Amino acid sequence: MTTPREQEALTHVGAGTPMGELLRRYWFPLAASVEVPPGRALGRRLLGEDLVVFRTTGGELGLIDEHCTHRGASLRCGHVDAQGIACPYHGWKYDAEGRCLEMPAEPRQKAALLKRAATRAFPVQELGGLIFAYLGPAPAPLLPRYDLLVMEGTLRDIGVADLPCNWLQIMENSVDPAHVEWLHGHHLAGVRADMGRPAPTQYVKRHVRIGFDVFPYGIIKRRILEGGSEDDEDWRVGHPLIFPCALRVGTGNQHRFQFRVPVDDTHTRHYWYACYLPPEGRSAPAQPQIPLYRVPWQDENGEFIVDFVDGGDIMAWVTQGPIADRTRELLVSSDKGIVLYRRLLLEQARRVSEGADPMGVIRDEADNTVIRFEQEHNKFRNGRQLLREAIEMSHVRYSPLKEQIIKLLGP
Ligand code: FES
Ligand SMILES: [Fe+2]
Repeated sequence: MTTPREQEALTHVGAGTPMGELLRRYWFPLAASVEVPPGRALGRRLLGEDLVVFRTTGGELGLIDEHCTHRGASLRCGHVDAQGIACPYHGWKYDAEGRCLEMPAEPRQKAALLKRAATRAFPVQELGGLIFAYLGPAPAPLLPRYDLLVMEGTLRDIGVADLPCNWLQIMENSVDPAHVEWLHGHHLAGVRADMGRPAPTQYVKRHVRIGFDVFPYGIIKRRILEGGSEDDEDWRVGHPLIFPCALRVGTGNQHRFQFRVPVDDTHTRHYWYACYLPPEGRSAPAQPQIPLYRVPWQDENGEFIVDFVDGGDIMAWVTQGPIADRTRELLVSSDKGIVLYRRLLLEQARRVSEGADPMGVIRDEADNTVIRFEQEHNKFRNGRQLLREAIEMSHVRYSPLKEQIIKLLGP
């Protein structure tokens, strides 16, 4: 049973809270590279902090507090040039280190005054078409070179949705295999039957066993489905929750990360970062930029769109409320992955409070050439012939690359 104190400790992300301090030891995707071309700025909220990310006309990225140190106007509409970003109100200009370079209306810009006007700046780096931010104490750890972010010769796209709920209920879904057979199996089949559309065939299989193993980067999730055995990839390989806030998932030649970015206590940005690996004998088309697309989850009446897998997940996450109340839940044996993940979060938060690095933080370049993760290639004994059906029932149906993906991976 979760106590009110644990509930608060597990969910809040502000500075000084247990999870806020733990999460500040990791890099988070803040934006897609395509959203911040040279000369542009973007307002972003991360871990309850209001920030602005910009790229100078020379290509340098900067991440600073959103509000100007003069009188607090937002820099999200600021003018970006070769040196930095100028506040739209009176033109105070900041560089990527947060130094104030100019105060146009001041007759004498004394060095001491400019120094006092400096703002907070945070480390920001780009990898694989995403811009990552680190809000924790210096020195920042290395930005992990997760395999899909550095993989070559693949087709990629990035889906995004902004969700009005706490990050933890989304992450807990990643260690909850049992929901698949009901939510994505029977429930989705019912929804689609009502619409006169084909139903999923692969997800209705009953789970006969689930297992979880902690490894250096998170938790590996395993399952045996009815009619299957320990020899199936679903059990032998499984796929990982990447601690603290990501999932690696996919099947066949589709590999993806789901990055869950805590915006604040009651909002989460969800990225689907996908690599489509060309089968033998085919090659992926060149991609000058990785496209970003929105994954809608509400229709024009504000109702949940639940006729696709991810829409069902989103409905389940959001309807638990802005912050799910875990003091009132009834956990059962199929929730053992959730219990393990919460215990790991609290343990790692304790490590941070004792001054140690939590799991998965990388400081040695030798450990960061490529961080490889395993995932099933034959999940739910799904096959290439089911590709179009699977895509129509996943967020990929909204991708601008949908037809290219089907052409690359299809039979
Ligand atoms: S509020 Fe930004 S320059 Fe005055
Ligand atoms: Fe799901």
